[in-house]
Amino acid sequence: MTDPAIFKDAPWDALDPALLAQAAKVPTMLAPEEQRFYFWATSEWMQDKGAVVDLGCFVGGSTARLAAGHQLAGHTGLIHAYDRFGANEAAKEHILYAQGVAPFEGSKTLDLAIDLLTPWTERIALHPGQIEEQIWDEGPIEILVMDASKSVQTMDAMTRTFFPSLIPGQSLVVQQDYLFWRLPWIAMQMELLADYFTPVASVPGHTMVFLNTKQIDDDALNIGMVTPRTHEQRLDLLERAKQRLTAAGFDVTKPMAEQFWTLQKHPNTDRAGHFTQKCEVEPAQIARP
Ligand SMILES: C[S@@+](CC[C@H](N)C(=O)[O-])C[C@H]1O[C@@H](n2cnc3c(N)ncnc32)[C@H](O)[C@@H]1O
Repeated sequence: MTDPAIFKDAPWDALDPALLAQAAKVPTMLAPEEQRFYFWATSEWMQDKGAVVDLGCFVGGSTARLAAGHQLAGHTGLIHAYDRFGANEAAKEHILYAQGVAPFEGSKTLDLAIDLLTPWTERIALHPGQIEEQIWDEGPIEILVMDASKSVQTMDAMTRTFFPSLIPGQSLVVQQDYLFWRLPWIAMQMELLADYFTPVASVPGHTMVFLNTKQIDDDALNIGMVTPRTHEQRLDLLERAKQRLTAAGFDVTKPMAEQFWTLQKHPNTDRAGHFTQKCEVEPAQIARP
């Protein structure tokens, strides 16, 4: 096993930007730090013991950063990238056109993703469709990127499908939206599964990275589902997650206060798109920060 102490110094921040030059041509919603981390995870952390899975790849931006690192390290397995491969007009204008894609009609993006990922074709398998309808039978997963937990139900379904193939002591789960105000349920799920994971890195924008420490079995999956939890249980889980991360040395006060505020404002909401109002008060003013 690679020593997890390596995460403490955020070695991905020292990455030579030239290594990401080709991948940087693929539009992405990721922050620069996250892009460096993705490359580092496949080039430095991975030991070629399993597949890379990218859940919610949009047009392949995250996949390209993962693939560039994977190629540099000479890994032999595949990167499996999942998405429904569609973009609305806002995403087209603000992300795709803004990052150099020529304007196009309609919303379909699968062909665009295939084109953009051409430099790494032999190491990527694309899986179009709803992720919650997919199955996984490709063996161990060494790096699992979660960027499609936009509803509690989708997150629970992805966890059921992919978590049992994680390799204890080696696999990373990259929770891209863990600290985003619109997705408070990711922290709840990782708190329910605290006996199975250790938080190892916080990467700006919103990513928390976890090392899997124990085999995910049926017990873990039954414990880990957020869908059946009540509003009060969800608030308690978020509070416990905040305390656990704070004790581990991660400063999560502001983003988690925003998540509490969001939950209290919209107590029965299970979809990120239904959270309309973002918290604009200081964490200390929130009733249960
Ligand atoms: C924030 S974007 C991902 C950004 C991407 N990782 C990048 O590097 O730019 C989230 C993606 O998840 C996809 N997604 C969300 N829920 C999904 C679902 N249930 N099934 C399939 N795709 C889904 C969306 O289509 C979208 O492209």
